Amino acid sequence: MRGVILAGGLGTRLHPMTRVTNKHLLPVYDRPMIYYPIQQLVSAGIEEILLVTGGNNAGDFLRLLGNGKAFGLKDIHYAYQEGEGGIADALGLAEHFAAGEPICVILGDNVFEESIRPAVEAYREPGSGAMILLKEVDDPERFGVAELGAGGSVTGIVEKPTEPATSLAVTGCYLYDPRVFDIIDGLDPSERGELEITDVNNRYIEWGEMRHHMLTGWWTDAGTVPSLHRASRLVAEAGDNPVLRQPSDD
Ligand code: DAU
Repeated sequence: MRGVILAGGLGTRLHPMTRVTNKHLLPVYDRPMIYYPIQQLVSAGIEEILLVTGGNNAGDFLRLLGNGKAFGLKDIHYAYQEGEGGIADALGLAEHFAAGEPICVILGDNVFEESIRPAVEAYREPGSGAMILLKEVDDPERFGVAELGAGGSVTGIVEKPTEPATSLAVTGCYLYDPRVFDIIDGLDPSERGELEITDVNNRYIEWGEMRHHMLTGWWTDAGTVPSLHRASRLVAEAGDNPVLRQPSDD
């Protein structure tokens, strides 16, 4: 399986910091934010990664990460997203890289305490359809929110609902089979002018081909000033967790 990290967008919720750099290069505790999703994919045994980014500072990722050797990767590929067309728009740039294989996608501003490896392994059996990772949170209105049916399966996802039906946030880690790119091709922009990952996920739910994995450790995004601080604090307090500490740097 190949990995895709989405690190485009303008990061306007972190102005003025993101006027001069990309959000995913800002520090979360002792290392750049982008290290965390890379470490996650490595922890799941993924060795080839595509990093999708954009904006004026795209070249800084190459300077920082090079060919990914420090993480033990075989290779990092890079793609450039023009503008801020949404998460699904950025993912659409991964079609060639995926080469007909299933993919594991992580948003560049998501930090997970535990390894995603168990979810990736569960997805591999049988390795088709889609899987989302859910986490109970205090502020579901900030996220995509999952609704569960009587049998415990996900019956729908609502993006940033004003009155959330559950407290289950859809985290920024997704597993997809290659049909994801056909879904993206057929999407229309949402009211905020973006191709929404929630629309992609709802299509798999309509098909009856969405599974989910419940996270037990903490999870946070780092895309706002409060959540960026929270992420740094959680990492600082996490001690010797290898998912959060590798690789050791100079
Ligand atoms: O963090 C999880 C949440 O992420 C999910 O619960 C939501 O369903 C999902 O829509 C998303 O919500 P946000 O509004 O927080 O997403 P944001 O616009 O902050 O983008 C998250 C990451 O996606 C960002 O760090 C980089 C990538 N991205 C985003 C956009 C809009 C791109 O690569 N390109 C883009 O155009």
